[in-house]
Amino acid sequence: MEKEKVILTGDRPTGKLHIGHYVGSLRRRVELQNSGEYRKIFVFEADAQALTDNIDNPEKVRQNVIEVALDYLAVGLDPQKSTIFIQSQIPELCELSFYYMDLVTVSRLQRNPTVKTEIQMRNFETSIPVGFFTYPISQAADITAFKATTVPVGEDQEPMLEQAREIVRRFNYIYGETLVEPEILLPDNAACLRLPGTDGKAKMSKSLGNCIYLSDSADEVEKKVRSMFTDPTHLRVSDPGKLEGNTVFTYLDAFCKPEHFGRYWTDYANLDEVKAHYTRGGLGDMKVKKFLAAILQEELTPIRERRKEFEKDIPAVYDMLKKGCEVARETAAQTLDEVRRAMKINYFDDAALIAEQAQRFHQ
Ligand code: TRP
Repeated sequence: MEKEKVILTGDRPTGKLHIGHYVGSLRRRVELQNSGEYRKIFVFEADAQALTDNIDNPEKVRQNVIEVALDYLAVGLDPQKSTIFIQSQIPELCELSFYYMDLVTVSRLQRNPTVKTEIQMRNFETSIPVGFFTYPISQAADITAFKATTVPVGEDQEPMLEQAREIVRRFNYIYGETLVEPEILLPDNAACLRLPGTDGKAKMSKSLGNCIYLSDSADEVEKKVRSMFTDPTHLRVSDPGKLEGNTVFTYLDAFCKPEHFGRYWTDYANLDEVKAHYTRGGLGDMKVKKFLAAILQEELTPIRERRKEFEKDIPAVYDMLKKGCEVARETAAQTLDEVRRAMKINYFDDAALIAEQAQRFHQ
């Protein structure tokens, strides 16, 4: 039987990717890619979306397009199995967005919680760029152009998916079954849903300087783990420690596997034992941090090394992206044809229409 499921997902190229991206989405993408269960996999850089709130800083987006491409290749996305492309190179997406705009109201966009928060974060309240305000519509175009069934993203993208589904339903209701309703695929582990920054703040962000990047050197990773936020009331080793809001333990929840104990910490059999000891008192932060650092190095070293290999031939990376764009464009153009037909704006490829009109005028 032909496989039916199609994956599409992407990232804004506004910075190098960090381990929050990794546990929240990238790691899963690679597993899905290698599972062989999907008919097609599209992974793209949402550079046009990145420009909606970086319009005066195109250089930042331009620089990060190659950084993110390297991060993709480094984690194991394979251009032989996944189509990797750049949003701005697919003009069909603009045309789809233009038609979808008729299916969405201003008040519906205003209610999108992610957009709401972002408007506040960027102090856009009094002067919201229209392109930024409408990016959920363009995101619906990204998803539907490729008839994606499955969109693996973080939970902050849930409102975008909901809005995309509404557009699909509305379109299909008015113009007939054309588009495919996508579903979100969230990380399966709560710690991976949103990995906090190394300072314990809710989210990793470049401006807060609390990220561990996939491209960080082993020394940088070591240093960042050593200065990580834990439980501020856990002053002496003998004090009981708290797990809640303790970044080191949140990271362990996201990264630690049973086999790590045999390799790096034979005093314990599993994470529950470590947690119990820490809560009881008598286990110092430094020991836990050392364990976390060992685990992170194990996971990040092969990524860092693969990245270094790809960095040796940057023109080849651009070439890979260009080929991906060509492949992606074919699919998007096919969907756009169907959309135009459904919307009855395909005047010149419809012989029946021309004949029918000719008849009407010559009766
Ligand atoms: N908004 C997403 C982010 O900020 C990026 C994105 C754009 C995306 N279009 C998409 C993700 C379509 C999934 C599907 O990370």
